[in-house]
Amino acid sequence: MQQTMIDRFGRHITYLRVSVTDRCDFRCIYCMSEAMTFLPRQDLLSLEELDRLASAFVARGVRKLRLTGGEPLVRRNILWLLKALSRHLGDGLDELTLTTNGSQLVRYAEALADCGIARINVSLDTLDPDRFRAITRRGDLGGVMSGIEAAHRAGLKIKINTVALRDVNEGEFEKLIGWSHGNGFDLTLIETMPMGEIDADRTEQYLPLSLVRARLEQRFTLDDIPYRSGGPARYVQVRETGGRLGFITPMTHNFCEACNRVRVTCTGTLYMCLGQEDAADLRAPLRASEDNTLLHAAIDEAIARKPKGHDFVIGRGERPATARPMSLTGG
Ligand code: 5AD
Ligand code: SF4
Repeated sequence: MQQTMIDRFGRHITYLRVSVTDRCDFRCIYCMSEAMTFLPRQDLLSLEELDRLASAFVARGVRKLRLTGGEPLVRRNILWLLKALSRHLGDGLDELTLTTNGSQLVRYAEALADCGIARINVSLDTLDPDRFRAITRRGDLGGVMSGIEAAHRAGLKIKINTVALRDVNEGEFEKLIGWSHGNGFDLTLIETMPMGEIDADRTEQYLPLSLVRARLEQRFTLDDIPYRSGGPARYVQVRETGGRLGFITPMTHNFCEACNRVRVTCTGTLYMCLGQEDAADLRAPLRASEDNTLLHAAIDEAIARKPKGHDFVIGRGERPATARPMSLTGG
């Protein structure tokens, strides 16, 4: 039995997010530039290597695995990886899940449920088709809606993630709450984080959720609840709908003290914090030998350097906190 991972601030690392591709079929305005260049395919870990890497983390006490991207469902043969990882469920792993933009769910919903996936996060910033196209620069809302329905029918629990964008979707949160809760979905609102170069000005996109919450409280009664989904969201129950509403507030309220996670990219780079550049290469030790001794040593070294927290700042003329976009580490 390998040692579990505890950092120097006493935080237990029990959650791994694996970005299986940096590619995406959308180009969301807050995430990437229109002319995004993706990693050369030969730099990617194979699915077998991703399985070995994620499984090594499960052996080190990771209880929750989330596949992300980019868009994880555009990675070829992704079901093979999900099936492979599902062998750990009930044997160290409590949850296997993914974050998706929903574009491929019509095709994959049933198969995801068959892999033991119980819930998924779907990113959806608007219910208006034209606005959806404007935010994603190429997405089709109808396709995503059919995908969400397919996932619902397949028995997957759904959480909708909405990035709050000033002037773009800020008038829609009540509608999104009504729609999500009416369908039995949780809804989480997210503040934009300054990661990667985008074409727009982040200062103009940024909308503090403290303000959104104050506005929603004029329409709804929000009761704080202790519910946690294992992530940084803080939840309220909306009395009028009976549904759950989460707030992820990296900017207005730092959530780092309770951080339980690390992230690995599709090239085997381990990021100990979403908001810091420091990283550890796990691809070299993974490939250096068949047994995992070097890999576990590299993991130990990296966890020992996990920083206390991010230092995101959004302001005019500020550089992004990280040069890499969210699509590389998958949020
Ligand atoms: N700030 C906040 N959220 C972001 N996402 C992508 N880029 C950013 C950003 N810069 C969101 C996506 C998805 C989740 C993985 O992160 O919309 O919901
Ligand atoms: Fe793709 Fe998600 Fe980035 Fe949008 S936010 S471009 S869906 S990775």
